[in-house]
Amino acid sequence: MRAELWFCIWISFLWGSCEGRFVVEKNNLRVTSPETLKDVYECAIGNFGVPQYGGTMLGLVVYPKTNKKACKGFDEFDISFKSKAGELPTFVLVERGDCYFTTKAWNAQNVGAAAVLVVDDRAEPLITMDVPEEEIGNADYLQNISIPSALISKSLGDGLKKALANGEMVNVNLDWRESLPHPDERVEYEFWTNSNDECGPKCDSQMEFVRNFKGAAQILEQKGYTQFTPHYITWYCPEAFILSKQCKSQCINHGRYCAPDPEQDFSKGYDGKDVVMQNLHQVCVFKVSNESGKPWLWWDYVTDFAIRCPMKEVKYNKECADKVIQSLGIDLKKIDDCIGDPDADDDNPFLKAEQDAQIGHGSRGDVTILPTLVINNRQYRGKLDKGAVLKALCAGFQETTEPAVCLTEDIETNECLENNGGCWQDKAANASACKDTFRGRVCECPTVHGVQFVGDGYTHCEASGSGRCEINNGGCWKQTKDAATYSACIEGTSNGCKCPPGFKGDGIKSCEDVDECKERTACQCSECKCKNTWGSYECSCGGDLLYMQEHDTCISKKTTTEVGWGFLWVILFGLALAGVGAYGVYKYRIRSYMDSEIRAIMAQYMPLENQAETPNHISHANA
Ligand SMILES: *[C@@H]1O[C@H](CO)[C@@H](O)[C@H](O)[C@H]1NC(C)=O
Ligand SMILES: *[C@@H]1O[C@H](CO)[C@@H](O)[C@H](O)[C@H]1NC(C)=O
Ligand SMILES: *[C@@H]1O[C@H](CO)[C@@H](O)[C@H](O)[C@H]1NC(C)=O
Repeated sequence: MRAELWFCIWISFLWGSCEGRFVVEKNNLRVTSPETLKDVYECAIGNFGVPQYGGTMLGLVVYPKTNKKACKGFDEFDISFKSKAGELPTFVLVERGDCYFTTKAWNAQNVGAAAVLVVDDRAEPLITMDVPEEEIGNADYLQNISIPSALISKSLGDGLKKALANGEMVNVNLDWRESLPHPDERVEYEFWTNSNDECGPKCDSQMEFVRNFKGAAQILEQKGYTQFTPHYITWYCPEAFILSKQCKSQCINHGRYCAPDPEQDFSKGYDGKDVVMQNLHQVCVFKVSNESGKPWLWWDYVTDFAIRCPMKEVKYNKECADKVIQSLGIDLKKIDDCIGDPDADDDNPFLKAEQDAQIGHGSRGDVTILPTLVINNRQYRGKLDKGAVLKALCAGFQETTEPAVCLTEDIETNECLENNGGCWQDKAANASACKDTFRGRVCECPTVHGVQFVGDGYTHCEASGSGRCEINNGGCWKQTKDAATYSACIEGTSNGCKCPPGFKGDGIKSCEDVDECKERTACQCSECKCKNTWGSYECSCGGDLLYMQEHDTCISKKTTTEVGWGFLWVILFGLALAGVGAYGVYKYRIRSYMDSEIRAIMAQYMPLENQAETPNHISHANA
């Protein structure tokens, strides 16, 4: 099995094609409508475009009436898949065949499709749709494909088409949330690459990715978020060919480790074995710097080597590599020990380990295409691009443990740019509920200048709590006229708007002045003269009369004075009366006391008419 595989790959390099064991990474496609098709189906995401790793994508399926294979531009047929504001994005159903998968995706993307569902043309296990080799370099549209494409089975495709033919609404949800394992707070990932820098656009785009991604990779590694390992594919020369010219020029360690000739011409330029040697250098740089606790130096070495030692300038050699290694402070002696003797008829333990790693294990298939990114032991599918890869790496973290770099603009989905992602927004307050994250957009009421908005995030959000009236007046009505300002926002209440007194309305869009005069709510006495003002009214009374607002009545200015004095008189009189009364009572009491004392004394000397009244005195006197 293993030998067959190597042989097969070997042959493919010499003669072009071969069927290797290629693992198809599958994704979930959930049909949410119509009822009869409601289920979760498998689909295979293509190796181009930008899959929304970590997120989901909801769409409305459309099956074009013509150009069903999407091999021609849809604008020729006046077909557009742009969804209108508030509509779900369009997933275009296209038939497999007649042209490249990438062409179909590009044509659909150009007229506004959000995703492409390619229907397989026969009942068979799903395959991974790939970028056509012969298109790389000739077609710069490949890098511009930004929508995901998925291959679906013929049976599912037939079902969808039938439902559409019946005029039913077909809704699907592409779900990448579980497409990468995300078991813990650290993501393990591998990059299967090659040091060959003269393989045309494919090598160029690979190096461009390494250059662009280096910064993020190093930060993630230094902070312990990731454990990265680079890998290099080598092939071995089949026994029978070991002494052949091909194997001699393309292999080291007696046919054990080979790489294809960079120019595919054995007689000129660099040979395959030069590439294998440089691959081995890179393996060793990683091993040695990993042992010294700085695995991220690999990124520096690889990018520096590509700049300083290109094949074009005939510097793709050991001397140049050694200079780069030394400039990075890596121990050259350890590198040389790791490389060993390339002419020995013996294994190199590190390249052997690389060959062993090529064989799939667990859920990961054999690595047969370069470059390949493996994240948490699953092969990454999609464009090799900083934003897309970072999104996939981020999806490998357990939810909520993703590092800050995962929440930066670089890997935003940019869904908020169009139609504000379907979320609430208030342009006047410069507030939007749309937030781009690597898991897709979310609609969440924002916090603006420290003021929290609350609501569902889709149709409404309103400023809440203290300071809310500072933000666009809390979403309430406010107007200034004739130097007077009225507002329907009441600071201190957590939300809501209420027209101030003198106004009526919803308090949000409008508050209308109440015409107190017309509505007969004030200034109604017969002598009153009413004049409405904005937010209030003025009431006056003719002549000598004065308006009393509390009683909504006019009263005479004179009357009020007399009443006032009269009242005072009453009080004074009352006080005087009370004083006199009190004095009278006092007098009476004194008198009546004196009376009884005098009576008692006099009674000792003469009989008085009513002696019974003073028995004490008598008995006392008798004793
Ligand atoms: C691809 O995008 C680049 C940069 O945005 C642009 O210059 C180029 O014209 C695009 N290519 C195609 C085929 O649209
Ligand atoms: C790199 O170092 C870490 C920790 O020292 C170790 O766990 C890991 O296996 C090393 N990787 C390789 C490829 O040697
Ligand atoms: C709105 O807010 C964004 C970011 O919060 C800021 O960049 C922009 O300048 C603001 N626009 C206005 C008109 O205040």
